[in-house]
Amino acid sequence: MMKFKAPIFDIKNLDFRVKSQKILSNVSLEIFQSEYIAIIGPNGGGKTTLIRMLLGLDKPTSGDIRIFGKKIKNFKEWHKIGYVPQRASHVDSSFPATVLDIVKMGRTSQRPLFGSFSDEDEKHVHDSMTKMDVLHLQDKMVGTLSGGQRQRVMIARALASSPEILILDEPNTGVDMVSQNRFYALLRKLNKDDGITIVFITHDIGVIADDIGRLFTINEKATICNNPKQILSCDEMSELYGREAHLLHMHKHEH
Ligand SMILES: Nc1ncnc2c1ncn2[C@@H]1O[C@H](COP(=O)(O)OP(=O)(O)O)[C@@H](O)[C@H]1O
Ligand SMILES: [Mg+2]
Repeated sequence: MMKFKAPIFDIKNLDFRVKSQKILSNVSLEIFQSEYIAIIGPNGGGKTTLIRMLLGLDKPTSGDIRIFGKKIKNFKEWHKIGYVPQRASHVDSSFPATVLDIVKMGRTSQRPLFGSFSDEDEKHVHDSMTKMDVLHLQDKMVGTLSGGQRQRVMIARALASSPEILILDEPNTGVDMVSQNRFYALLRKLNKDDGITIVFITHDIGVIADDIGRLFTINEKATICNNPKQILSCDEMSELYGREAHLLHMHKHEH
């Protein structure tokens, strides 16, 4: 028997206005279990705003959001949603926390306040550091790490709550190409082996990994593309970014 599975996120006709400025207009999209999707659009296009509304951090002017089939106001299982905010890894070099401290923070939301860390908590922390290949760094101060290492630590923190979906807002800023490719390989593994849904947000069309199954573009309005390779070469891209970005991307394909 086929069992109906509600999408993780079901967003309908979302509007967000600040005073008279339209930030998002009539945005509808669904994000399904085990997908690997990208949300792209120019700076200021409303990507972060959209994500903040999905996480209940901002309230839309109008529209509906359902998470795992529940209206957002009734949804409580936030540990199922892993979130790495934009610039999360831009910590001060004197930030007084080790890698282990940071990853443990990802676990605290599920524990009673001031409750002690259980064996299960320890296991999740250990496993997520292993998955993101930062276990050997656990006693290092986070401020001393490279951009690529910090990026992996922030994701390990999000993984510590055993989320079903991982939302990464511009995770690739300040990270070199070698780290980037390694990072994509880790994300691919999370998606393929652990079935974690990945939402990869970026303004940079040059960093879209081949793994992406679907693509949303956001520039006040949203469009959906089920064949990312197609949209990256079509006119909609120049509409979204202007002619220069389009040419830049064409150029990339000539290599
Ligand atoms: N709470 C808010 N109040 C005023 N302006 C906002 C607010 N949230 C977002 N904006 C504006 O919305 C637009 C979209 O911003 P943002 O979502 O950060 O875009 P992106 O993440 O795609 O770069 C920007 O013009 C930003 O200044
Ligand atoms: Mg943003």
